[in-house]
Amino acid sequence: MNRNDYDAVITKAIEIQKQWRTVPAPKRGELIRVFGNHLRQDIEKIGTAIMKDAKKIHAEAIGEVQEAVDMCDFAVGLSRQLYGLTIQSERPEHKLQEVYNPLGVVGVITAFNFPCAVWAWNHCIAMVCGNSVVWKGSPKSTQVTDACKTAWDKAVDECMPGTDYKDLLQLVDGDKTEAEWMADDTRINLLSATGSTAMGKALAPKVSARMGKGLYELGGNNGMIVTQHANLDLAVRGIVFGAVGTAGQRCTTLRRLIVQESVYDELMSKLKPAYSSLSVGDNFKPETLVGPLINQESADRMLSVLEQAKAKGYIIHGGEVVEGCTVRPAIVEVTAQCDLVKTETFAPILYVMKYKELDEAIDIHNAVPQGLSSCIFTDSVQEAETFTSAVGSDCGIVNINIGPSGAEIGGAFGGEKDTGGGRESGSDAWKQYMRRSTVTINYGKSLPLAQGIKFGD
Ligand code: UN1
Repeated sequence: MNRNDYDAVITKAIEIQKQWRTVPAPKRGELIRVFGNHLRQDIEKIGTAIMKDAKKIHAEAIGEVQEAVDMCDFAVGLSRQLYGLTIQSERPEHKLQEVYNPLGVVGVITAFNFPCAVWAWNHCIAMVCGNSVVWKGSPKSTQVTDACKTAWDKAVDECMPGTDYKDLLQLVDGDKTEAEWMADDTRINLLSATGSTAMGKALAPKVSARMGKGLYELGGNNGMIVTQHANLDLAVRGIVFGAVGTAGQRCTTLRRLIVQESVYDELMSKLKPAYSSLSVGDNFKPETLVGPLINQESADRMLSVLEQAKAKGYIIHGGEVVEGCTVRPAIVEVTAQCDLVKTETFAPILYVMKYKELDEAIDIHNAVPQGLSSCIFTDSVQEAETFTSAVGSDCGIVNINIGPSGAEIGGAFGGEKDTGGGRESGSDAWKQYMRRSTVTINYGKSLPLAQGIKFGD
């Protein structure tokens, strides 16, 4: 996209938001309700675009659009809330209130792996909060971006015909340069960026330098602890979906398995056959569970990491090329959590290691730069509660007897450390999309000062 076209997009986003901010929030929610219906109608169409662009299998592609539908339902309810606190004043005949108003223009940058749902997390909330959205989807998933924009435009035609509200969502076609324009742009009031930690680290300093607001959901290196008190069959199901779903290309993908030594052999004896029976291949075939990686570069990176693991003497199961960029998921049995294990490789590689005591397992678990999602499989309440406590997992998402991926939209989604600290989708994530004012109202006839200050009286 050239710079003039980009500037025209931002100008339009500012103009349209000035109208939108005056529409009552529940009316804004009405548009999101209709949009949700269009997503329901177009679920197969958008799902097919996800299968083509992101190479997901049908069930996961449809699940991703469902996540966007769920976001609409959530945001519609939210549109009748968006409430602040009323706080007791220390002064007579005074009241303190929190008031939330729209921010302005929200810039949204999304990655290829969740080309619809992650945008919807941001878009649905930003809309009911009274903002306009400028969306730069991944250049690898433009068919999805276009299909989502079409659904949005149809919703506006149905719900608010004759308005310019289609422009509440505008697309920025581009890659790194355009992302940098957005990060530098003081006209963008919030930049929400989802993708790699490297991308986040390149953009965040630009946003901070202009004192802008940033919301980052970046890389993960998600772990699972399997204790001697775990239901191993349940754990195996959790491991397989977590590690090989979306061909290992979720930010929540399971990458590290930390197993108590007394159940290690039994777990591996269940896991290896589960891996070798996986059907890997064309993502359009109904029997396929693991489709191709996004491109050859990604497959080459996976193979090179497996080579490095081999050179370290680690035992590797799987990892064979099926064809092109389709690779069988790999399990790597490691003896130490080396740099290779601490690095997120966006591919289905699962590192497995042993521990003796739970505190050691938690130390291993937390000793990576990323802090997105985590889980423990155990039927012991002590172990489970310890994992969720102050001495437990340091991640934004902590699961018990569930793998690290496949979060519901109702909770806040995101993580700590190199994951960027942002929270998207549910809970009170909406607050980041609004400007909070603390309002003090004097309904009396005198002017007492706070802190009891006497000033000339
Ligand atoms: C991502 O990979 O960027 O929890 C998002 C999950 C999905 C979202 C993943 N609901 O796995």
